[in-house]
Amino acid sequence: MLVLGIETSCDETGLALVEDGRKILGAQLATSLKEHQRYGGVVPEIASRAHVEVMTAELENLLQGAGITPSQIDRIAVTHGPGLPGSLVIGVAAAKALALAWKKPLVAVNHLHAHLYAALMEQMPWSVEDPMVGLIISGGHTAIVRAEGIRAFHLMGQTRDDAVGEAFDKVAKLMGLGFPGGPEIQRVAEGGNRRAFRFLPPKIKTGSPYDFSLSGVKTAVLYKVRDHQKTNAGPLDASFTSDMAASFQESVVEEVVQKTVLACAETGIRRLAVGGGVVANRRLRERLTEVCREEKIALAVPPLSLCTDNGTMVAGLGCYLPPLSSMELNSIPDLRVEEEIK
Ligand code: KG4
Ligand code: ZN
Repeated sequence: MLVLGIETSCDETGLALVEDGRKILGAQLATSLKEHQRYGGVVPEIASRAHVEVMTAELENLLQGAGITPSQIDRIAVTHGPGLPGSLVIGVAAAKALALAWKKPLVAVNHLHAHLYAALMEQMPWSVEDPMVGLIISGGHTAIVRAEGIRAFHLMGQTRDDAVGEAFDKVAKLMGLGFPGGPEIQRVAEGGNRRAFRFLPPKIKTGSPYDFSLSGVKTAVLYKVRDHQKTNAGPLDASFTSDMAASFQESVVEEVVQKTVLACAETGIRRLAVGGGVVANRRLRERLTEVCREEKIALAVPPLSLCTDNGTMVAGLGCYLPPLSSMELNSIPDLRVEEEIK
């Protein structure tokens, strides 16, 4: 089965052709990232306009590059949420237009499920029916889920304030680093002392023990940076920045790894799939690998190319989901991870 996948939930316009859920026949990815950089964050209006500008050319390049004609495509899968309203609507409108013009069924994909499917796509270490624990960490989302295969997801924990990627972005900004902050923090953390500063996220006393709270760590970094600026006039010196980035990264990585491993232990599910932009983080990948090896948990991690937003994961997951019975599909900006596919 050949699926065209369309992803426009944030600032990436991703289109891909995937056969039988795994074989990538072609993929296109455009990003408006550079246009957002001077604002220090994604500007929704700019992101949605950029999707409109590149969509048609990307589609033509995709079909031409893969040597595929529309008649060979079996269905069109599109991210319908969660994400930025003005961005999602462009992808959904494009998918509907193509489905109507080409007479193909439409498939609605939850962006968060697609991030987890990205971990399974290359290796398929277990069946798509098997129960697994999922960790989704991106710029906008933080969730630990228990999943019955790739169809039914139950939320176990989420963030109470900043998403993990958002915390990276905000801490980078207050340290004078660029956007997006995750890759910047990772870069300056190289060679830094992870134990130079100790940041402990608060213990979650009520509600789910798998919930996260990262705003306290962010504020603690802010105070340390201010103290440093008071005593050393001028820009932050390189060794301070490097130690601070390494210590912040370490504290967030440990918090994420420990909570996720606890979720595996308590559910008795020894399969863990991880996804979302923050999963590109080298230290996180290293610690997840170490801890899962110790705890005998099978770990599925996406390749770096499929961590941040892309159309491939949408096309891949679209192979397994039931097509919609009509063209009535709306984008749902606040679509939740537990939302069942109808
Ligand atoms: O999944 P994604 O592309 O978009 C959303 O759905 O939000 O994730 C983007 C997020 C940003 O917050 C970015 O700073 C973070 O992923 N990120 C990283 C790394 N690469 C991207 N965070 C930590 N380390 C990285 N290497
Ligand atoms: Zn994403």
